[in-house]
Amino acid sequence: MKRIWKAACAVSCTILLLVCTNALSQSQGQNMPKDKEFRIERSMPREASICIECHKAEHPGIFADWAASRHANANITCYDCHKADETDPDVDKEHFKYYDEYTRKYGDKDFYKVPISGVVTPKDCSRCHPDEAKQYSVSKHANTMEIIWKIDPWLNDGMNSDLERASGCYYCHGTVLKMKDGQLDPDTWPNVGVGRINLDGSKGSCTSCHTRHRFSLMEARKPEACGQCHLGPDHPQIEIYMESKHGDIYTAFGDEYNWTAAPGTWSAGVDFRGPTCASCHMSGTGKVLTSHDVTERLAWELQAPLTVRPQDFKPFPAKTNWKNERAKMKEVCKQCHGKTWVDGHFDKQDRVIEEYNEVYYKPAKKMLDDLYNKNLLDNTRFFDEHLEVEFYELWHHEGRRARMGAAMMAPDYAWWHGFYECKNRYNQYMEEARKLIEKNEKAYKYPDFPNATGDTTRPEVIFGKTPE
Ligand code: HEC
Ligand code: HEC
Ligand code: HEC
Ligand code: HEC
Ligand code: HEC
Ligand code: HEC
Ligand code: HEC
Ligand code: HEC
Repeated sequence: MKRIWKAACAVSCTILLLVCTNALSQSQGQNMPKDKEFRIERSMPREASICIECHKAEHPGIFADWAASRHANANITCYDCHKADETDPDVDKEHFKYYDEYTRKYGDKDFYKVPISGVVTPKDCSRCHPDEAKQYSVSKHANTMEIIWKIDPWLNDGMNSDLERASGCYYCHGTVLKMKDGQLDPDTWPNVGVGRINLDGSKGSCTSCHTRHRFSLMEARKPEACGQCHLGPDHPQIEIYMESKHGDIYTAFGDEYNWTAAPGTWSAGVDFRGPTCASCHMSGTGKVLTSHDVTERLAWELQAPLTVRPQDFKPFPAKTNWKNERAKMKEVCKQCHGKTWVDGHFDKQDRVIEEYNEVYYKPAKKMLDDLYNKNLLDNTRFFDEHLEVEFYELWHHEGRRARMGAAMMAPDYAWWHGFYECKNRYNQYMEEARKLIEKNEKAYKYPDFPNATGDTTRPEVIFGKTPE
């Protein structure tokens, strides 16, 4: 969307809204009347006040959220975020019709009709939050569509369906937004995945963590905001966190934390006594500044098959130096722990990573390559032979759990869901592989692999046109 203020509409008017907001009555104690009269008396452009007036009846839920937000408090209106230019690709062509009904009812002039878009992108937020938007734009969150299309066999070999992707992968990772018959294409919308590619060319969706229309810091600081995507067999960070002492302290004392401290002032010890995901990975602490780039503070690529330093991760090399980032992470810990404790933790973490790489990953990978070289496994597509799935789960499931469990203080994930399972998988994988080699027998290939129908063309907006 473009930011244009129509000078003709600069006439300010005072509006008075009498509203019943549950959100507000909640904060009023038990004996207060449930419905609270809420007044907004401020000057705002007419075309902006009209959005609120109509939408508080259309969508009381949206209105209540906005009214309780810092934005409403600072006089930031619907129109500030949703304004569009008539030529924008994501402009809502239907929306003018609603004004027509309104003017029919009130016989008012329609000079305040303005084009709007339902999509609000990091570019729109960047008008007022340029630093957050800039940090976000270089993060792996914002760039994940490029990353997954560079490396993922589900996508590149077309091993799942487009619908499986839309209801699964793209919900978390984001999608490439498209228009269809003047409306957002339902195959791509709604979507608030971290790396959504917007029609204005910007990447990501700030609502992944700050749900509209509260845009709350409290929500983003709580681990559940991250846990909606960071969970499950392959990246169980929320489970790991809840198992750790830090998560335990959050469960016990979380309701005493000062979640609403002003941006950049949320301090260990003062506002909270145990860190959350945000405290360790994003929020400013000590000399370390808040960052919307979650690759900062990382010294490893723990999710990769072979653990490497972030700057050596080929599909998306970080522009960081792992030693500086490790120092930043330690600075976070040192708000609450002594040096010996912190060094001891990272010493073990780094040795776990080394062992995983050398003892489990490298020999298993070598075996896989041998089987391909001997033509006992077929390397045209991944996942259609049992050993390929076994190899995948070794690094992608238990191998990640072992590394992440050790990094984030969860012994059950490091061992029982981690290395213990790695051992089982490894032994069975090696046994099956050796049998094929001994008998010189080709592996069984699943002939009817279900739903291997997904489009394998890489998104043009990221990679350009695929050569014929
Ligand atoms: C006269 C009533 C009215 C006015 C004035 C109005 N809207 Fe709407 N708006 C609607 C209705 C009705 C819908 C459709 C509701 C639905 O789809 O459930 C809608 C839909 C929307 C949507 C969702 C679009 C989508 O693609 O999902 C947004 C965003 C929106 N309006 C923002 C605004 C903004 C910003 C303004 C002021 C510049 C505004 N509206 C003014 C009635 C109005
Ligand atoms: C700070 C920016 C901001 C403000 C202010 C704002 N919105 Fe939104 N709105 C968003 C975002 C972000 C989304 C989610 C769309 C997306 O993911 O791109 C959204 C979505 C919507 C939708 C579609 C939601 C759905 O579930 O269908 C409507 C309707 C809407 N806004 C109306 C309003 C109205 C009315 C106001 C004023 C009372 C308002 N917005 C104020 C940012 C904003
Ligand atoms: C027109 C300017 C403007 C736009 C556009 C805007 N914001 Fe804001 N935002 C503000 C202002 C001003 C504040 C600070 C309010 C205060 O400190 O009281 C704020 C505060 C915030 C906060 C902190 C809230 C808190 O609890 O302290 C978040 C998070 C936020 N905005 C997110 C967003 C996102 C995400 C978008 C885009 C969807 C967006 N904003 C678009 C002006 C804007
Ligand atoms: C529940 C949300 C969710 C779903 C569903 C999901 N992912 Fe992910 N994915 C994540 C998260 C979170 C990570 C980051 C893991 C980490 O760093 O520990 C990730 C990591 C990845 C990576 C590694 C990125 C890198 O930098 O190496 C790839 C590739 C990937 N996902 C592809 C997919 C594909 C393809 C699908 C669907 C078949 C999918 N994901 C489904 C959340 C999800
Ligand atoms: C991965 C989750 C996540 C996403 C996505 C995200 N934020 Fe935030 N944001 C946070 C957290 C956590 C904080 C709280 C930092 C703190 O403790 O002060 C925050 C704080 C903020 C603040 C308060 C000022 C500050 O920097 O601390 C603003 C403004 C803000 N975010 C805007 C945005 C905008 C704009 C986007 C999209 C470009 C965005 N956020 C995307 C998690 C996120
Ligand atoms: C909407 C889904 C979603 C939410 C919410 C989310 N993430 Fe992520 N996160 C992802 C995906 C997907 C990736 C993988 C990106 C890639 O590497 O391609 C990822 C990657 C990461 C990484 C790894 C970065 C790297 O360089 O390897 C960190 C750290 C991270 N997220 C932290 C957080 C934190 C902290 C929060 C909450 C404040 C959060 N995320 C919220 C989806 C999400
Ligand atoms: C006590 C601090 C702390 C807390 C709390 C914490 N983490 Fe971590 N996290 C770490 C450390 C340390 C690492 C490993 C950093 C390194 O050496 O690269 C890590 C690694 C990660 C990674 C792996 C990135 C990669 O390399 O692929 C992700 C993703 C992640 N954390 C997300 C989360 C999420 C989501 C939460 C909350 C549910 C969370 N973290 C809570 C400290 C923390
Ligand atoms: C806001 C304060 C705070 C921060 C920041 C913090 N911790 Fe902790 N941590 C604690 C508290 C409190 C405990 C509980 C100690 C106890 O057992 O009494 C704890 C426990 C631990 C434990 C013991 C786990 C167990 O189950 O025995 C380890 C290891 C640890 N932290 C490492 C770290 C590392 C590494 C970082 C930085 C990446 C970090 N912590 C950041 C407060 C913090």
